[in-house]
Amino acid sequence: MSRIFINYRRQDSEGYVGRLYDHLSSHFEPSDIFMDVEAMKPGVDFVRALEEAVVACDVFIAIIGPQWLTAESEDGSRRLDADNDFVRIEIESALKHDKVVIPVLVGRATMPLKRDLPETIAALAHRNAFELSHQRFAYDVEQLVRTIKSALLPVKPATKARASSETLRRKMREIKALRDQLFDAKASPLYAHRIENRYFPVLGDGNPDANILFIGQCPGEYEAIQGRPFVGASGDVLDEMLLTIGLKREDTYMTNVVLDRPPDNRDPIPAEIEFYVPYVDRLIEIVEPGVIVPLGRFAMGYILRKYDLPEKKLRIGQLHGKLMQAKAAHGNIFILPIYHPAMVLYSAREKDTLRQDFQQLKPFV
Ligand code: URA
Repeated sequence: MSRIFINYRRQDSEGYVGRLYDHLSSHFEPSDIFMDVEAMKPGVDFVRALEEAVVACDVFIAIIGPQWLTAESEDGSRRLDADNDFVRIEIESALKHDKVVIPVLVGRATMPLKRDLPETIAALAHRNAFELSHQRFAYDVEQLVRTIKSALLPVKPATKARASSETLRRKMREIKALRDQLFDAKASPLYAHRIENRYFPVLGDGNPDANILFIGQCPGEYEAIQGRPFVGASGDVLDEMLLTIGLKREDTYMTNVVLDRPPDNRDPIPAEIEFYVPYVDRLIEIVEPGVIVPLGRFAMGYILRKYDLPEKKLRIGQLHGKLMQAKAAHGNIFILPIYHPAMVLYSAREKDTLRQDFQQLKPFV
């Protein structure tokens, strides 16, 4: 997941950008710094692809060198005005999505005036610029690093005060009522399969007042036999990850976007997700978590759509480990998409990614 996006024009500032990248990568994870849009395959809508890359970042750095404003294409027209100018398109997206945009001046460039900019990026002229001078490069970059760090989403420790026993009792009653409703959900597309196989529906499990709510995909065989989420191999991975941040599953609440086991171990289909998400919505209302952790693409897709986040069209590969904010009925919350723990069962290498993403949950423990 890239948190820092560096936007630049190769012919204008490539040398500076290389030096800047080297410095930044000693302060930030190199994987958090996005510099060059991968070669795009023929047929790809590049405006959309660039927008997706920009939406995924938290801080957008626009490197402005001496030829930034005036660079020309072969036909003598200004590149900044061309339909396919990456630099302008990326800045447009960053401004449109209200990213922290920091213009960084290099090579003694000065900040372009509003009247000289294409209208769609005129607002760039109002952003406070930062100058990287040749002589004091290391010092200037240190200052820039500070600015970036303070701009990255400030996560105030968002722990939750212990609920009174009366509140806990109420929440338990509400969850029990919801569970009864789920048992009786004859309209579910998976009800017949549940009954035929003598499976249980799996509403969820854990602390009814948890600060961290995990939402997985759907129950597997073990889960459907026991009526509890994450009690199979994926659950073992989840427990191991929780341990790395000093948590036990009883401290959290765990559920899924689909609450009955689909046949043949297949992925859930949209009609099933649509049927069960009102239960998930109700669980969120009851538990009132400070952070929701969708595990995998199905849960992430639903939660980003539910809170209508600008990132809702992005893929989990672009968003895992990225802490986002949303407004829930019970107050402001965080959303942290993480890969589904089953991924580790297929590719052991991914364990480090999972472990790293789980570290983001520490302020909520
Ligand atoms: N996978 C899930 O997504 N949820 C479970 O409960 C178990 C495995």
